Order: sequence, then structure tokens, then C-alpha cells
Amino acid sequence: MQSRALLQMEESGKDSAVVSRANQSRVLPRRLLFLVVLFLLLCFTFSVVSIFMIKQFGVNSIFEAVKPSFQSCVLEHQLNSLDRWIKPLDLMHNMTDEELFWRASMVPQIKKYPFRRVPKIAFMFLTKGPLPLAPLWERFFKGNEGLYSIYIHPLPSYQTEFPSSSVFYKRRIPSQLTEWGRMSMCDAEKRLLANALLDISNEWFVLLSESCIPLYNFSYVYKYIKRSRYSFIGAFDDPGPFGRGRYSENMLPEVDITQWRKGSQWFEINRKLALYLVEDIRFHQKFSEFCRPACYVDEHYFPTMLTIKAANLLANRSITYTDWSRGGPHPATFGRADITESFMKKLYGNRSCLYNDHPISVCFLFARKFAPSALEPLFLLAPKYLGF
Ligand SMILES: *[C@@H]1O[C@H](CO)[C@@H](O)[C@H](O)[C@H]1NC(C)=O
Ligand SMILES: *[C@@H]1O[C@H](CO)[C@@H](O)[C@H](O)[C@H]1NC(C)=O
Ligand SMILES: *[C@@H]1O[C@H](CO)[C@@H](O)[C@H](O)[C@H]1NC(C)=O
Ligand SMILES: *[C@@H]1O[C@H](CO)[C@@H](O)[C@H](O)[C@H]1NC(C)=O
Repeated sequence: MQSRALLQMEESGKDSAVVSRANQSRVLPRRLLFLVVLFLLLCFTFSVVSIFMIKQFGVNSIFEAVKPSFQSCVLEHQLNSLDRWIKPLDLMHNMTDEELFWRASMVPQIKKYPFRRVPKIAFMFLTKGPLPLAPLWERFFKGNEGLYSIYIHPLPSYQTEFPSSSVFYKRRIPSQLTEWGRMSMCDAEKRLLANALLDISNEWFVLLSESCIPLYNFSYVYKYIKRSRYSFIGAFDDPGPFGRGRYSENMLPEVDITQWRKGSQWFEINRKLALYLVEDIRFHQKFSEFCRPACYVDEHYFPTMLTIKAANLLANRSITYTDWSRGGPHPATFGRADITESFMKKLYGNRSCLYNDHPISVCFLFARKFAPSALEPLFLLAPKYLGF
């Protein structure tokens, strides 16, 4: 603005100079008049040459030469400030996994932050496409801005965007095809973690799916996670065919059979453990090669690796409730007809587990799997049971 105002002043100054010179010229001797005519001639020639040049090279090219320098000024301001090191400007980058994981593995060495850092929970949704239970989550997040971040990893073919009023708006990350029980599933989880790590304020990382619901209000969930000494990831030593039975001696020397763990993929981990997962190459290679169906890598890779790296930081249990009581390879899915008062009582009722080494009755903060048809009855019962 300032420079433009200056320019205008300069221009009007020039104009008045030309006018006064023209007035004087009437009384000036011939020689001077000749000089003025010569000057005007030169001006005319210059104008003609300019018009020719514009015709030749186009007006656009001249404007284009001006426009980017203005844009780059704005961009430069954003790029040069600290902001870009605190969190990314836009989640949709075009880094490859290799580039992203490398970038996400960077850790500041000065422990005191030069800005006010409020630790956030990153809610990472690994989905096929839509989020049918989104209205429930919207209500869960409402009023807690600044304490959470959301990331969505849908199948790449899913392109629908949320309305701009939604907490899910523009929270999608660049995704890739994933298959259940394959390494591509763990890669998608790492992709979510790596993108979430780029926001320095994310301290805890929760993996969810489109069929998950929260069981408590946000402030309760936040406190429960914040005050826990351990990260919540299922990790147990199952001596049976679906546990140790899936171990291969080829895992040696990285993993011996006593370190082999199993657990559901729905974890909550802190920043330190998230970094271990994102920076790992050694275990990734072993598991991609030697844990293939019927070894389901998403049930073993993270629990085993984190047990080896940081057993003392693990609660060894998940905070996402899953009902396996109906039997079969897939957990129960609850629809409209299942959501009754007695179901809700059962969901919350009568449990005991360890929290910071003491028994507690609240063992789960989230639950799955819920069908889209469960939304309406859940919405009605939410104030009474979910507490929001
Ligand atoms: C990545 O995005 C930037 C800006 O959007 C673009 O200039 C660049 O060519 C892209 N790189 C790749 C490899 O697609
Ligand atoms: C959240 O839930 C807890 C326990 O369920 C309750 O004590 C608390 O008052 C609730 N907080 C809000 C803000 O609703
Ligand atoms: C979780 O299991 C590991 C061994 O796998 C153990 O060292 C650790 O203490 C356990 N965590 C808790 C909270 O008991
Ligand atoms: C809860 O568990 C206790 C002991 O395990 C049992 O006596 C009680 O009946 C149970 N309550 C309900 C509501 O299931």
C-alpha cells in the first residue's frame, strides 16, 4: 500500500512538471523549443515501441510477471514465520510416505516451547469412506476447540468433502489403498500418525474407525488419557495357535518368541511411542516379509515392537471396547434394534481393570462396531449415558 501511494505521488509530480515545462516553453528561445520537440518525439517513439512489445509478447505476460511476486510475498510471510513449524498450513500435501515419515521423525532438541503449547489429542479416523456417526462425534467435540485435532484416512476413491461447518471439514490426509490384515493397513496407521505428528501440539494419538463411538464426554476422555502413566494399546502373550502360533523363527534376531505380542489395532499412544512407530524401518521389514496371512500383521507389529522398545510405557490393554462374544472372525456390529437401555447398561456396567496400577471400573472410552442405523437411538440415549 505504502509503495503504491508513493508511486501515485511520483506520477502526479511528473505530470505537474510536464505541464509547467509546457507553459514555460512559449517564452523560451527556439533552441530550447527544439529540445522539447525532440523530447516529445522520443516519448512518442518509446510509446510506439512499447505498444509493439505488448502486442508481440502479450499484456498477460506483463501482469503475470507482477502477480506471482505479490503472492510469494504473502506465502513468504507464512513460510518464514514459526507457524509452519508448529503445524502444517494444509493437510493435503504431496509428500511420499518416505518423505512424510522422514519429516515427521524430526524432534526439537530444546524442550521448552517458544509458544504456548496446549497438548491435544489427535483423533485419527481410518475409514472406508463416509463417517455415518459423524453427528455424534460433532456433539462430542463441540466446545472443546484447541484440545483436539482430527485426521481422516479414507480409501483414495472416496472424494466427498464435509460441509465447512463440520469439525471434519478439510481434515482428510493423502491416503492410499489399504487391506485388512495386510501391511498396507499398518502403513495407513503410520501415515495417520506421521501427519498428526506434524502438529507439534498433538500429544496423544487415538486410532478410530467409522464404526466407533465415544462412551464419555470430551473432558472426561481428555483427563483419562492425560493423567494416565501408560499408553493404551492391547499387547498380550497368547500361547495359542492365533498368538505364538503365528510367530516365525525368521523374525530373529529382531523378535524372539517371548517378545511376540498380540492386540487389537485400536490404540491410544503418546508422542514418544508414535515416533517409534513412524521412524521404524527394521521391524517393518521383518514383519512385511514374515508376518503374512494367516499371520495378521496389524494384530502383531505395533504391540510386539512397542513391547520391545518401551514395555514399561504400555498399559497392555485397549480403551476401545469390542464385542467378540458372538464368535467368528469379526466382532459384533450393533444396529438400531440393539441400542436399548439394557444394552447401554451392559456396555458401561461391571468392569474392572488397572489404571495407573490401581483398579478402576472405567476401562473403555470408545466402543465399536456400530452400524449407521445405530445413530438415531444413540443420539437419543447420549445425554443419559454418553454424557454429552
Ligand atoms: C507438489 O505440490 C507442489 C505445489 O502444490 C507442486 O509445485 C509440485 O510440483 C508437486 N510435486 C509433485 C511431486 O507432485
Ligand atoms: C463429563 O462427564 C463426567 C462423568 O461422566 C461428569 O462428571 C462431567 O460433569 C461431565 N462434564 C461435562 C462438561 O459435561
Ligand atoms: C505390560 O507388559 C509388559 C511386558 O510385556 C510389562 O513389562 C509392563 O509392565 C506391562 N504394563 C503394565 C502397566 O503392567
Ligand atoms: C457385577 O459384578 C458383581 C461381582 O462380579 C456381581 O455380584 C453383580 O451382580 C454384578 N452386577 C451387575 C449389574 O451385573
